Amino acid sequence: MVMSATASGKKVGVVMTMGALHEGHVSLVEQCTGQVDVTVVTIFVNPTQFLPGEDFEKYPRDLDGDLDSISGLPVDFVFAPTAQEMYGESFSTTIQPPDVGKPLEGSHRPGHYEGVCTVVFKLLQAVPASVAYFGHKDYQQYLVIKKMAADLDLDSKIEVCPTVREPDGLAMSSRNRYLSESERKQALAISAALLAAKKSVADGCDDVDAIAKGIREQLVAAGISKIDYAAVVHAETLEEIASIDESSVALVAAYVGDTRLIDNMAL
Ligand code: PAF
Repeated sequence: MVMSATASGKKVGVVMTMGALHEGHVSLVEQCTGQVDVTVVTIFVNPTQFLPGEDFEKYPRDLDGDLDSISGLPVDFVFAPTAQEMYGESFSTTIQPPDVGKPLEGSHRPGHYEGVCTVVFKLLQAVPASVAYFGHKDYQQYLVIKKMAADLDLDSKIEVCPTVREPDGLAMSSRNRYLSESERKQALAISAALLAAKKSVADGCDDVDAIAKGIREQLVAAGISKIDYAAVVHAETLEEIASIDESSVALVAAYVGDTRLIDNMAL
């Protein structure tokens, strides 16, 4: 069906998700439906991007709820394959992520982006879309997928859409469902620390170490002490920088209770 839409010259867009849809996903779907003729949403909790000991088993799965969340939108197809349908019995070919996938998430979750690249490539084989939409909250993922698409000559344009936040600033994430009431409050320190960093930069600070230290200190002050990274790096390469300018981004990955949250802000 999608193939015939493509063949008849219609512009196909895809929003790839792991389900547990929230307003962030809905905004991706809205952006997609506003820009293409045929919108496809994929829902697949991809086992290969979870490391042993991560939350693959408990990751929220609610297909009916997900379908309800997008029922008011002009979505043409939902593709929700099983792991068997995606990988079969003896799957063994994977895609090595590009260099931009090596730091940050890449070093803390080795193998994660290999799983992401492989499943995104395979989903684009099933859904040959001319545009694929991803959220800015998973900023490194967006850079990794964009580079993979360029390096492997994929026909799909990779679009990034703004992070959707709760009114108090918390970046929307399917994993927010794991947070208790008190953890939910604690988690606010992440977006607050990033905002404070942005303000310091706007006020004239260009010191990378001072800004990164400031973020870390605010997290610790809020009781968030297990911090995978609080980094200030180049927004395109994610490489270390000597001083902050308009092409810098701050990224955080930290545990609130047992829940690992990520967020980022352009500085
Ligand atoms: O961002 C996600 O939800 C996933 O990493 C993706 C892109 C759907 C691949 O499984």
